Amino acid sequence: MSVVYLAVGSVSGTAIAVGQAVKAQLEAWGHTVVQDETPDVEGLNASGCDAVLICTATTGQGDIPANIIPFYVDLEARFPLQNGRPFGIISLGDSSYDTTFCQAGALFEERFLELQGSQPVARLTINAMETITPDEDALFWLQAWQAAALKG
Ligand SMILES: Cc1cc2nc3c(=O)[nH]c(=O)nc-3n(C[C@H](O)[C@H](O)[C@H](O)COP(=O)(O)O)c2cc1C
Repeated sequence: MSVVYLAVGSVSGTAIAVGQAVKAQLEAWGHTVVQDETPDVEGLNASGCDAVLICTATTGQGDIPANIIPFYVDLEARFPLQNGRPFGIISLGDSSYDTTFCQAGALFEERFLELQGSQPVARLTINAMETITPDEDALFWLQAWQAAALKG
């Protein structure tokens, strides 16, 4: 069984609801989840996690939600090398934003790859134009992610 640090970035609550569904499912599988809506490197380190999940919306014009910006900045400033620790990205967006579709998730993906995290399953994009069940979409993806990234 694994410990997962789940960092959530949200403006209007959809990503929080998705994060809660993900947390509940991971716990039902026997894992421990530290869900953090004000994530930072301190919290990441303190969690003693085996794997990291980022579940984030995109806001503005391809911007990272305000509650998770400090984490993004902190990761660059403190550069906590992941040494192959698995990560996963659930990115929520809306394809009508075209060139900035799900950009915040893409930025976190880039950052964790720079930090030498391993990404066993490709980033999930949840398009608000195409789905009204983002939590179900995330849980489908989560099956593959947990099989590839977690122990037990
Ligand atoms: C003001 C605003 C700006 C947005 N900008 C983007 C964007 O640049 N790219 C994108 O993919 N989605 C964008 N979205 C869509 C949101 O990311 C999407 O609706 C998401 O599900 C919202 O999640 P939340 O409720 O957790 O904030 C935007 C939504 C709003 C309201």
